Amino acid sequence: WPAYAPLIHAINTLKKERNAVILAHNYMTPEIFHGVGDIMGDSLALAQKAAETDADVIVQAGVHFMAETAKILSPEKTVLIPDMRAGCSLAASITGEDVALIKKKYPDLPIVTYVNTSADVKAESDVCCTSGNAVQVVEWAAREWGTDTVIMIPDEYLARNVAANTDIRILSWKGACEVHERFTAEDVDALREAHPGVIVLTHPESPASVVKAADFAGSTAAMAAWVRDNKPAKAVLLTECSMSDNVSVGQAETQFIRPCNLCPHMKRISLQNIYDALRYNRHAVEVDPELARRAKVSLDRMLALPR
Ligand code: 13P
Ligand code: SF4
Repeated sequence: WPAYAPLIHAINTLKKERNAVILAHNYMTPEIFHGVGDIMGDSLALAQKAAETDADVIVQAGVHFMAETAKILSPEKTVLIPDMRAGCSLAASITGEDVALIKKKYPDLPIVTYVNTSADVKAESDVCCTSGNAVQVVEWAAREWGTDTVIMIPDEYLARNVAANTDIRILSWKGACEVHERFTAEDVDALREAHPGVIVLTHPESPASVVKAADFAGSTAAMAAWVRDNKPAKAVLLTECSMSDNVSVGQAETQFIRPCNLCPHMKRISLQNIYDALRYNRHAVEVDPELARRAKVSLDRMLALPR
């Protein structure tokens, strides 16, 4: 059985010595999330808090685009990611050159870009969004640009799910999250049959048919809040597996049912490599300053919207 306590103690000691904070996404395993996380939450909360912290060092317990976002928002800080290979299928689905071509084809339409993208993609975009504010950002962009059509990249499923909640017409891209695209409406039907009364929650990166069949869809923070507020007797979180592990802590009223899917990128982060990151100052995330300046415009527009 892994000995978590000595590593948790060593990490918490190193954090104090280095004036460091650990940003832990909701998909981190519980020993990371509950054991060493300082700022926990969804992509939106992590971006907001990365911009506000006065720590000298940020360790991103999450994936590369999150660390890059933290570096763009806090260029003077050391931003570390414990494993450089922690990528994302959405971020890998599109490049800055792709966005430049889209812009050339549709020069009058705003480009709303999911934060699950690289800095060069953000730099070519007009405004960022997360799953927690996507409808708000799309409606803001349509108003600002005086248009009824918005380009939203790169998650095709998120774009469709946003389109179902707004009158704005949305053009999208063919990216998908490898965790959420695998759920089906048949999974939801089978769960309801096997577990009568079960409440099904999912993420808007899932196909529209899954969102339609579920009881609730929202960002990871919104799913956690829904379960905490409504305390269902039985719930299934059709998302990454660590979600229900983390939400179940302190929620004895709810029986959490599987299935779930693992994100291989999130799962590259461990207590051991978080310790190594702080101890050996690795792996520092750097963004070219001019690229960061342009990407920050898109992030700042999102962060300036009312919370
Ligand atoms: P949120 O935490 O913003 O809902 O994002 C989910 C996700 O897949 C992040 O990689
Ligand atoms: Fe990317 Fe999906 Fe993994 Fe999030 S869960 S990092 S969107 S592949």
